[in-house]
Amino acid sequence: MMLDWYTRYYQVVLDSRANALYCERLAGRNLYQHDFTEMADLDRLIEVTGMSEGQRVLDLGCGNGFITEYLSDQSGACCTGLDFIPEAIRQAEERTRAKRDRLRFQEGDMARLDFPPASFDILIAVDTLYFTELIQTIGEMKRVLAPGGQMALFYAHGWVPWESLDAFPRDSTLPDRTPLALALQAHGLAYRTWDYTQADYAHAQRKQRIAEDLRDAFEAEGNLFLYENHQGEAVGVQRAIEANAHTRYLYHVTTLSNS
Ligand SMILES: C[S@@+](CC[C@H](N)C(=O)[O-])C[C@H]1O[C@@H](n2cnc3c(N)ncnc32)[C@H](O)[C@@H]1O
Repeated sequence: MMLDWYTRYYQVVLDSRANALYCERLAGRNLYQHDFTEMADLDRLIEVTGMSEGQRVLDLGCGNGFITEYLSDQSGACCTGLDFIPEAIRQAEERTRAKRDRLRFQEGDMARLDFPPASFDILIAVDTLYFTELIQTIGEMKRVLAPGGQMALFYAHGWVPWESLDAFPRDSTLPDRTPLALALQAHGLAYRTWDYTQADYAHAQRKQRIAEDLRDAFEAEGNLFLYENHQGEAVGVQRAIEANAHTRYLYHVTTLSNS
């Protein structure tokens, strides 16, 4: 189901003028973002990790790779993007052929990483750790991270409107109680967090306005499903934050160089 949705998304998004305008207006630049980040948030990933030339970076759930390419262009780091949608990886590989010395893409599942131990200095995940078994995935991520390596992970957790709000455990939105935090703790990984919940709320408000402004343009292209997805996410996140049942954090994991 999720695979089918993302396959359709990447098949149409490259040629969607409405979606390009939507990303430009919302995030500041069209990198085909399917997330809650803006350009300053991507720059924050570079800043917090000190990403620089010569480092090996893995972007988990890279989609069609525009964010991976941006991170590599800005920092000079050698970046690998991984996603399990073949069409997304095909687009990324084709577009970045001239940058193969520092940009690569690979089809694969983040829960079963096909890389030798200690292959990367930095692991990035921008709104992707929602569709995978986290204990296994964080274990795989730990395995491919070199001693002294880091992870920088944008992650939201909250109530979804089609489930019961009363049954939602609100304490699971605390930075040390989210499913991601529990998985990091289970693997003995140390982290610090920054709370992006208020930024997420403001982003969701703008997301809703911009999607609604562009609704006719999406429809004229035959891509109303993109509008419905953007709009639905925006409304759902606002409702959940208003109900005190949604948070978003940047998790920064650091490891010891002799670990
Ligand atoms: C919400 S999108 C975010 C894409 C991109 N990081 C961004 O910020 O725009 C989630 C992406 O993660 C990918 N993904 C989800 N689960 C995955 C998994 N287990 N292994 C590999 N890719 C996965 C999806 O195919 C999709 O491209």
